[in-house]
Amino acid sequence: MQQWIVNWSKLAKTDAHAAEVAASRPAVMQIFEGQITQPELDAVVDYVDKWQPPVATGPAQGQPEGEGHGALIFGIISLIMALIALILMQVNSNLKKLSDDSEGILRPEPVPFYKNKVYIALFSIVLFVVGGYYTASALIDFGRQKHYEPTQPIFYSHKVHAGINQINCLYCHGAAMESRHAAIPSVNVCMNCHKTINSYTKGPELTRPDGSKVDGTREIEKLYSYAGFDPKNAAAWDPSKAKPITWTKIHNLPDHVYFNHSQHIKAGKVQCQTCHGEITNMDEVYQFSELSMGWCINCHRNTKVDFYKTDSSGKATGNKFYSIYEKFHDDIKSGKMDSVTVKDIGGLECQKCHY
Ligand code: HEC
Ligand code: HEC
Ligand code: HEC
Ligand code: HEC
Ligand code: HEC
Repeated sequence: MQQWIVNWSKLAKTDAHAAEVAASRPAVMQIFEGQITQPELDAVVDYVDKWQPPVATGPAQGQPEGEGHGALIFGIISLIMALIALILMQVNSNLKKLSDDSEGILRPEPVPFYKNKVYIALFSIVLFVVGGYYTASALIDFGRQKHYEPTQPIFYSHKVHAGINQINCLYCHGAAMESRHAAIPSVNVCMNCHKTINSYTKGPELTRPDGSKVDGTREIEKLYSYAGFDPKNAAAWDPSKAKPITWTKIHNLPDHVYFNHSQHIKAGKVQCQTCHGEITNMDEVYQFSELSMGWCINCHRNTKVDFYKTDSSGKATGNKFYSIYEKFHDDIKSGKMDSVTVKDIGGLECQKCHY
C-alpha cells in the first residue's frame, strides 16, 4: 500500500494487481513521491487499517415538525384579531362618551390611545411575538448559503467542460459513486487533457458575474503554474511537483449532518442536477439548493425508492437490497400499497442524518 501511495503509476508498471486497480478507476490519484515522509505514510496506512464504519447513535425516532408556515398564518390571524379588538374597544368607548354626554354626565377627558397603558402593553406583546418569530427564523437560516458563488483561484467553467465538451461528471467526481464525498479532482486529472490543450480558442466568450471578460488561455496558464508544467518543454514535466489548487468549497452542511453521495446516486439513482441544478450551464458553480433539513425531508417524503418486487409471473425487478422489507413486499402484492418512499424505509429517522 505504501508504494501505491508514493507513486501508483510506478507500481502499476511492475505489479499486475495495481495495474488492474489503476485501469478500473475513472480518475487518477495524485503522486506523492518526495512530498510525504515515512511517519506520515505509516500514519496513513495505520489509519486505513484501523478504520471502522461509524456506528450511528442518536435520539429515539420521532416525527419531525412540519415547516413553519402554520405558525406564520397563526401569527397574522392573531394580529388581525387584536386590531379588530382594539378598534371595537375604541368604538365602544366613543359610544359610551356620546351617551354620557347626551345624558349630561361629566367624565374625565379620555387618555389618548398612545398613553393608554393597555394599548402600550398590547403593542409590546405583539412586537415581542413578531420580532421573536423573525429573530428565530433568521437564526435558523444563519449559516445557510443558497446561491453562494465564491471567486475561485482559476476560472474553471463547468459549462465548457461538462456542457459543451460533454465530459462526464464522474470523470472528475467519480468518488460520488462509491463514497460519501463527490470530491474535487486533483491537478493531475486536469493535466490528463491539458498537457495537450494549451489554449482556449474553440468555446464561447467567458464572462464573470460582474461582467468582466475572462481570458481562458490565461486561466489555463494558471493551471500550469499549479502543475509546474511548461508547455514548451512538456517532456520535462514532473507530475509529482504539482501543487494542489486551493478551490473554495461551495456546499457545506453543518458537522452534525451525515450526507452520503453514493447512497443517493448509486442506490437512490438521483441525478446530480436534481440537487445541484443545471451545472452544465454554469460557468462558475453556485449553490442551487437550500441544503436545509426541510429540503432533505421533503424529498424523502415524496421520492419512491426502486423497490424490490415480484410480478405475477414471479419475475423480480428493483433493488434487491429491499427484499428484506417483507411487509411492504406483501402489501404491494396484495394491493394495499403501490410504491415505497424513502420515508417508508426510514428516511425521516433522526439518527439516519444526525450522529
Ligand atoms: C473536468 C473536471 C470536472 C467535470 C467533468 C465536472 N466537474 Fe464539477 N468540479 C470540478 C472542479 C475542479 C470543481 C471545483 C471548482 C469549482 O467549484 O468550480 C468542481 C466543483 C463542483 C461542484 C461544487 C463543489 C463544492 O465546492 O461544493 C459541484 C456541485 C460539481 N462540481 C458538480 C458537477 C456535476 C454535476 C458535473 C457533471 C454535470 C461536474 N461537476 C463535472 C471539476 C469537474
Ligand atoms: C440528493 C442530493 C445530491 C445529489 C443527487 C448529488 N449531490 Fe453533490 N452534494 C450534495 C450535498 C448536500 C453536498 C454537501 C455535502 C457536505 O457538505 O458534506 C454536496 C457536495 C458536493 C460536492 C462538494 C464536495 C463534496 O463531496 O462534499 C461535489 C463536487 C458534488 N456534490 C458533486 C456531485 C455530483 C458530481 C453529483 C452527481 C454524480 C452529485 N453531487 C449529486 C447533494 C447532492
Ligand atoms: C477530458 C479533458 C479535460 C479535462 C480533464 C480538463 N479539461 Fe479543461 N478544457 C478541456 C477542453 C476541451 C477545453 C476547451 C478548449 C477550447 O474550447 O479551446 C478546456 C478549457 C479549459 C479552460 C479555459 C476555459 C475555462 O473554463 O475557463 C480552463 C481554465 C480549463 N480548461 C481548466 C481545467 C481544469 C482546472 C481542469 C481540472 C479540474 C480541467 N480543465 C480538466 C478539456 C479538459
Ligand atoms: C432529490 C431527493 C433527495 C434529497 C434532496 C435528499 N435525499 Fe436522501 N435519499 C433520497 C433517496 C431516493 C434515498 C433512497 C436511496 C436508496 O434507495 O437507498 C435517500 C436516502 C437517504 C438516506 C438513507 C436512508 C435509509 O433509510 O437508509 C440518508 C441518511 C439520506 N438520504 C440523507 C439525506 C440528507 C442528509 C439530505 C439533505 C442534505 C438528503 N438525504 C437529501 C433522496 C433525496
Ligand atoms: C433526511 C435528513 C434529516 C433527518 C431525517 C433529520 N434531520 Fe435534522 N437536520 C438535517 C439537516 C440537513 C440540517 C441542517 C439544516 C441547516 O443547516 O440549516 C438539520 C438540522 C437540525 C437541527 C439544527 C437546527 C437547524 O434547523 O439547523 C436540529 C435540532 C435537528 N436537525 C433535529 C432533528 C430531529 C430531532 C430529527 C428527527 C425528528 C431530525 N433532525 C431528522 C437533516 C435531517
